[in-house]
Amino acid sequence: MTESRNITAMDRILIRIDEALRLSTGTTPAPARPNPATDLPDLELDSATREHVAGLMRVNHAGEICAQALYAGQAATARDERVREAMHQAAAEEIDHLAWCESRLEELDSRPSLLNPLWYAGSFAMGAVAGLAGDRWSLGFLRETEIQVEAHLQEHLERLPAEDARSQAILDQMKTDEAQHARMAEEAGAADLPLPIRSAMAFTAGIMKALAYRI
Ligand SMILES: [Fe+2]
Ligand SMILES: [Fe+2]
Repeated sequence: MTESRNITAMDRILIRIDEALRLSTGTTPAPARPNPATDLPDLELDSATREHVAGLMRVNHAGEICAQALYAGQAATARDERVREAMHQAAAEEIDHLAWCESRLEELDSRPSLLNPLWYAGSFAMGAVAGLAGDRWSLGFLRETEIQVEAHLQEHLERLPAEDARSQAILDQMKTDEAQHARMAEEAGAADLPLPIRSAMAFTAGIMKALAYRI
């Protein structure tokens, strides 16, 4: 009996490690929804502009790697089965974001962040800690993350060149989805996080963004 429980726990850990390695090294599952940029023109960008856009999209791709890891960490430690299910459902929608950012990076002849395994590991640990704090806090952490991501996406939309309709369409849809995830967390009973935690989250995200733009 003890042995089969151990095997089950070990299986779960191995599934998580396998998932982490696949996602953080660029093997993204197929998106469920069509890419919002599909019917838009891919205008030629000069090399400096292309590099700038690739930097922004690399940051967004790394952010989605973090989202996958946060959800996985939170789902691993969530107490309530419904909360765990909501985490898995939201993570499935974030896969679309990851896949869209990845294909835009390919179109721009660029690549995802080389530090993705690091972002994944750090975010998984943060998600697991949030989950251990209890479901209301974990949902509060999720809601705050989504609110910060939504604001960040708005900032990136303003920094994209006007002629890059393809990147804009992707970030627009992502922004709509993140707002929906924040509402989902709110309705599920998210607690309000104290200001120092919200500030620490923004600070940590700032470091990730600065590095992923380049590396
Ligand atoms: Fe997302
Ligand atoms: Fe989200």
